[in-house]
Amino acid sequence: MKNYQQWVISTHAAHGPAAYFRGMPTTTPPLLTSVQLARFVAHGHLRLDAVVPAELNREALDLLPAGLPDVPHGTPLADAYPPGSLPRRLVELPAVAGALRSLVGPSPTVDHHAVHVREPHEGHAQPLHGDAIIDVRPDAFDVQLMYYPQEVTADMGGTLLVPGSHLRRTNESDTGRYQNLRGQTRLVCPAGTVLLLHHGIWHGGRRNDSARRRYMFKIRFNPTVPQVRLWDTADLADPAVTTELGRYFPWYEQATGRLEVHNRVRLWRALTGDDSFDVEHWVTRVTNRPSQRSRS
Ligand SMILES: [Fe+2]
Repeated sequence: MKNYQQWVISTHAAHGPAAYFRGMPTTTPPLLTSVQLARFVAHGHLRLDAVVPAELNREALDLLPAGLPDVPHGTPLADAYPPGSLPRRLVELPAVAGALRSLVGPSPTVDHHAVHVREPHEGHAQPLHGDAIIDVRPDAFDVQLMYYPQEVTADMGGTLLVPGSHLRRTNESDTGRYQNLRGQTRLVCPAGTVLLLHHGIWHGGRRNDSARRRYMFKIRFNPTVPQVRLWDTADLADPAVTTELGRYFPWYEQATGRLEVHNRVRLWRALTGDDSFDVEHWVTRVTNRPSQRSRS
C-alpha cells in the first residue's frame, strides 16, 4: 500500500494538473429537506440506497482489499482526497454531497477513514458500540459515512443499527453486552448503498455467515461551521417535522423514551436556532427559569 503522500502524488499524476482543484464543486448539490433532517435527528441515520454507480462499485471492490492510505486527522475534505480517487468521487456524487452538506456543512474535515471487512463464515459478530468515547456535545455532531460497494444479503452480516439510540450517550463498547434490541435493523441493501450516521448511534458489524467477504468503507466527518439551517429549510413548518421528532422506537422504556424526545427537541433547537420549538411543551417547561430573566 502507498503512504498518503505517495497516493496523492500518484493520483495527481494520473489525472494531470488540470484535473487538480483544491475546492469542491461550486454548484449546490441537492440538499435534504427539513422533514428528512428531522427524520435523521429522530433515527440517527439516513440511508441512500444504490446511489453509487456500478462502475465506482467495481473499482471499490478492486481497491478496498488492499486498503487505502490513512488521511491525517483533521484534513479538510477538499484536500483529503485527490481528484479521480475513489473517496473523492464518492463524496462528490450529488446525493452524497447534498446530504453531507445538509448535515455537516460545506467544508468538513476528515476525522479518519477505514476499510472494514467481515470475513466469510467469520463465526462472531462485532459488539454493539459507539465509535468513540462518550460525547455530550449539545450543538454539534459528527457524521459517519458508510459505503457498501457490493450487495449485502441477509447472510452477509450487514451493519446492525439501533434507530433512535444516538442521543442516549454511551461510552464506546459499554453497550456490547446487549445482543438484540427490539426495533434494531440489520443492513440488507443493494450495491452502492451509503449510510450516513450520527456519531452516537449504537451499531456493530454482524456475523458474516456467507462465503463472501463483505466490504464497507467508512469516513468520519467533523463539521467546521455551526450546524444551523444547512439544509433546504423551505418545509420547516411542515407538521411532518414534529411527527418525525416525536417518534418512539420499540426498544425505549416508557419513561426514558420521553427523555429521548426531549433530547431531540434540544438538538432541533440547536440546528434551527429556534428556541421556541417544542414537542408537548416538554423542553419549554423544564427550561423556564423566571429568576434568570433580566429584571430591567
Ligand atoms: Fe463502529
